[in-house]
Amino acid sequence: MRAVDLIQKKRDGQTLTADEIKWLIEGYVDGSVPDYQMAAFAMAVYFQGMTTEEISELTMNMVASGDQIDLSAIPGIKVDKHSTGGVGDKVTLILVPLVASFGVPVAKMSGRGLGHTGGTLDKLEAIKGYQIEQSQEAFIKQVQDIGLAVIGQSNNLVKADKLLYALRDVTATVDIIPLIASSVMSKKIAAGADAILLDVTVGDGAFMKNIEDARELAQTMVNLGKAVGRETVAVLTNMSQPVGRAIGNRLEILEALDILKGQGREDVTQFICELARIMLGLAGVEKSILEIQEHLSNGKALAKFEAMVETQGGDLTDLYREPDVAEVVEILAEEDGYISELPALEFGLFAMKLGAGRAVKTDVLDYETGIVFEKKVGDAVKIGDIVAKIYTNQHLDQKVMSEFKKNVKIDKEEVKVTEILEIIS
Ligand code: URA
Repeated sequence: MRAVDLIQKKRDGQTLTADEIKWLIEGYVDGSVPDYQMAAFAMAVYFQGMTTEEISELTMNMVASGDQIDLSAIPGIKVDKHSTGGVGDKVTLILVPLVASFGVPVAKMSGRGLGHTGGTLDKLEAIKGYQIEQSQEAFIKQVQDIGLAVIGQSNNLVKADKLLYALRDVTATVDIIPLIASSVMSKKIAAGADAILLDVTVGDGAFMKNIEDARELAQTMVNLGKAVGRETVAVLTNMSQPVGRAIGNRLEILEALDILKGQGREDVTQFICELARIMLGLAGVEKSILEIQEHLSNGKALAKFEAMVETQGGDLTDLYREPDVAEVVEILAEEDGYISELPALEFGLFAMKLGAGRAVKTDVLDYETGIVFEKKVGDAVKIGDIVAKIYTNQHLDQKVMSEFKKNVKIDKEEVKVTEILEIIS
């Protein structure tokens, strides 16, 4: 076989056979298919798409390209969760301990943030001492002992995705449904859970900008999961504004602690409780939203989170520390009305420039900086109310401040938002 023939076949809209896809992925991982040919192939997929069978072959060959985690030593149904990325997305920090507090084991591997999107690992590393690297044995033992662990993805998991994702990132081939679906699902399948909850984000801060594309991505991933016997549910969630109040690593840890104590914003708390209800259902544990909320107010979910932090070397005193920044700048409402827009992408990029995110993979983060919104879309404001606080270690000049303010849209009419747009199962 020759890579050039497979690229041409896809370019001309034909379907690749299982053997051809296997050859391509194996060749890419062993280095016999170079980056430039894989990049051309990814671009051909952008224009021609892939059939369900092709996506399935691609996914399973990606799974086979690295280690596969065996979680069978952990008793019970293991449920994993994945978000396709967003701004201020601290959901994992709350959802994992909340689900674990009902006795459902959660063994989760998470990723880092890039660009305007954040990553759970970066947020956890904002806690002094927290170790994200663990051997497979230690990872499994921790889940056996305390019921939960969140660690970094093993280097040998889905090697094909490591190479391909980095290549897609620099060749304008990230936002392609068959490639996102195979990338996400290969990692979830290799990570070994019995059931998977997918949070498919939709809106300007997400890969999927509209509901139709998000629906197609979600359905493709649900089908991939089911085809290999993993019960999979996808929830389409609103990423037109940041999730909850905070963007920035330490700030998001603090917000997660508030939610875990039952003191978070009502909307984000409800949203996470609904995800927990679905995740528990996947593990065969039927609970009402009220019962789930109770684990926030009675401290059970918080106790699980603290146990995880402590077991992974995190300093519990540091956990509750306020951010250490040079300046906290308040942004005030300049008219009466209702917040109508807080574009996630713009604020994600703003937080990135403060040091809370990476423009390129090698950027060093400032864990302390970020934004806290005192008001979210739909909230009423009066002139002079604090809309947001910017935690910064840089001086913000007038130009930067007006750039921030121009993205806070206030309207006379109240705008309604919902976090969960659709559930696909
Ligand atoms: N997240 C992933 O893991 N892969 C993609 O391709 C896009 C988002």
